[in-house]
Amino acid sequence: MARLLVTGGAGFIGSNFVHHVLDHTDHDVVVLDKLTYAGNLASLDGLPADRFRFVQGDIADPTVVDELVGGVDAVVHYAAESHNDNSLHDPRPFLDTNIIGTYTLLEAVRRHEKRFHHISTDEVYGDLELDDPARFTEHTPYNPSSPYSSTKAGSDLLVRAWVRSFGVQATISNCSNNYGPYQHVEKFIPRQITNVIRGIRPKLYGAGENVRDWIHADDHSSAVLTILDRGVIGETYLIGADGEKNNKDVVELILTLMGQPADAYDHVTDRAGHDLRYAIDSTKLRTDLGWAPQYSDFEAGLAATIDWYRNNEAWWAPTKDGVEAFYASKGQ
Ligand SMILES: NC(=O)c1ccc[n+]([C@@H]2O[C@H](COP(=O)([O-])OP(=O)(O)OC[C@H]3O[C@@H](n4cnc5c(N)ncnc54)[C@H](O)[C@@H]3O)[C@@H](O)[C@H]2O)c1
Repeated sequence: MARLLVTGGAGFIGSNFVHHVLDHTDHDVVVLDKLTYAGNLASLDGLPADRFRFVQGDIADPTVVDELVGGVDAVVHYAAESHNDNSLHDPRPFLDTNIIGTYTLLEAVRRHEKRFHHISTDEVYGDLELDDPARFTEHTPYNPSSPYSSTKAGSDLLVRAWVRSFGVQATISNCSNNYGPYQHVEKFIPRQITNVIRGIRPKLYGAGENVRDWIHADDHSSAVLTILDRGVIGETYLIGADGEKNNKDVVELILTLMGQPADAYDHVTDRAGHDLRYAIDSTKLRTDLGWAPQYSDFEAGLAATIDWYRNNEAWWAPTKDGVEAFYASKGQ
């Protein structure tokens, strides 16, 4: 049994991880989350009070971070500003949280000699051509495109330096695009699903040829637990489930699964600098640590996610109108 500090545990992937840990292990969890617009306490409803505690605070605040890190065995660091579109409009919070916040956590785990796992993204590698057969590996050079991905890349490099210079006991994982319950409706898949539920036509950036490599958030969680358990200190592991799909196919599949004509969507102006294709080779994680995803069928995982949004309108309804008004103001 271990005590885990999970930063960003009220966000999409962090909250999925907290549920996964409490369901599948005997670890206790403390969540540290600032509750930005992306955090939602309702994502943590119903968790056992004797094994779970929530603290509202900023990962860039050294006082709260030091106190919490001192009381746990390991830190799993999900907290981030995570939305590419927002990073194009206002990059500053991305620097504060993704860079200074990660630095603050690294200094605390260094002081208290605690295990640290850093959650990152495949977007640090930039993008691949649509017709390129290559996939990202742990050896792909960093080449981030946006303020979001460049600050995540910077945070990864800080972790590597703290391992090398100060002997911090850290691992890093870079994961592909997640889908599943508790994802904010500003993001591609939940936005389209909730549009269909509301009778709004889904919106597709550009021609929709951009390819994303989808993984169910629960598979991301099991991979992170595997790395915490058996990962080699100082190593990076790529997490992916061979889920490459272009955005047009995903929108059409959502419409079909929701009983609508597959072409009942609109094209909107593409995002500036929109990465073309991401694809993950997760051989190292599978071979060295024996991990495998449970959701190998994207269509089944997507159908389950649609059911979740249908059954949990109270969770997403309060944010939906504001998100659509924001996108409308950008012509998207
Ligand atoms: N969403 C994806 O597909 C994806 C893929 C790969 C990696 N990641 C990484 O996974 C992590 C989580 O992503 P997500 O999609 O769940 O993000 P999210 O935006 O849904 O959640 C982020 C959480 O962090 C909290 N937070 C933000 N700034 C904070 C601060 N300064 N102090 C404390 N808490 C703060 C927010 O309140 C929110 O609860 C991020 O590090 C992201 O880079 C995401």
